[in-house]
Amino acid sequence: MSFRTSNIAIIGAGVVGTAIGYLLKQSGYSITGIGSRLMESAGKARDFIGQGEASTDLVRIARNADIVFITTSDDAIEQVCNHISGQRGFKPGSLVAHTSGALPVEVLDGAKQAGALTVCIHPLQSLPSVQEALRNISGSYFCLEGDSSSLKAARELVKALNGLELTIAPGGKSLYHAGAAAVSNFLVATIGFGLQLHEAAGINRRDSLNALLPLIRGTLKNVGQLGIPDALTGPIARGDVHTVQNHLHSIEQNLPELLGLYAELGRYTLGLALEKGSLDSEAAQKIRILLEQHCKG
Ligand SMILES: NC(=O)c1ccc[n+]([C@@H]2O[C@H](COP(=O)([O-])OP(=O)(O)OC[C@H]3O[C@@H](n4cnc5c(N)ncnc54)[C@H](OP(=O)(O)O)[C@@H]3O)[C@@H](O)[C@H]2O)c1
Repeated sequence: MSFRTSNIAIIGAGVVGTAIGYLLKQSGYSITGIGSRLMESAGKARDFIGQGEASTDLVRIARNADIVFITTSDDAIEQVCNHISGQRGFKPGSLVAHTSGALPVEVLDGAKQAGALTVCIHPLQSLPSVQEALRNISGSYFCLEGDSSSLKAARELVKALNGLELTIAPGGKSLYHAGAAAVSNFLVATIGFGLQLHEAAGINRRDSLNALLPLIRGTLKNVGQLGIPDALTGPIARGDVHTVQNHLHSIEQNLPELLGLYAELGRYTLGLALEKGSLDSEAAQKIRILLEQHCKG
């Protein structure tokens, strides 16, 4: 069966389910049903997508589809999948997908035992609302995990969503997700860290963020153009021992609770600087000693 002309069911009428349903309908797929825990959510998603039956009867919604997206919260995916497969709700030969970055494809094993193909199709993107998702999904990478026949079908879906593909080997899911979370969440946390230091220097939070945004964008542009570690600049990369010493001293005086964090990030940054080869070994050793005095481990 070609999945290109298939009927799709969405189970879990939240941000991702609604956005993926909408975009796949736009690209020619037929959305036959939207199932959710609450009828209100299913109905809202159906009205937005403009097609399909809205219901809380997940088994009936899944039974009518060739492709079933389980886009519930992570905690519910396995239980919802087992509930549907226990009621013979998946057509043999159909494709069952979840979109979680944190969970392996094996949480869909209940569907596999019922004769379905299973795959994980994780949009590597931050999707806070349906509107943002519609703007951001096109051009995003999708991490695929599954066997060869399910990957073939998943690739058609990614193409229809205007996405790009990143396939990972079985077993790598948790580290893959940790990497994505580190980049996205720790970037936000690092910006928060910088704002806190600025606030202690008397700079208003809003003014500080406005002033830092061009720096953040410039840094991201450098990362895109030069990669890691070549995009690294700053006192550690240059081997400016006294500047690092002054940073540590002023943080210790004003925000001692953040000293360990600065030192740990600095130690990781020093590793990148050595990889880049932008400081000599004597300066590196001095900076290492300074930072490690304040590292916990
Ligand atoms: N948002 C992101 O940035 C993002 C990015 C990549 C991947 N993902 C993944 O995409 C999936 C969905 O995330 P989301 O952000 O769309 O979450 P969400 O907006 O919270 O939506 C999840 C929906 O699942 C439904 N649900 C929860 N438990 C259910 C159950 N037992 N039976 C039926 N429906 C149930 C809820 O529906 P009711 O309203 O009916 O209770 C809720 O609307 C997750 O696996 C997440 O990890 C999210």
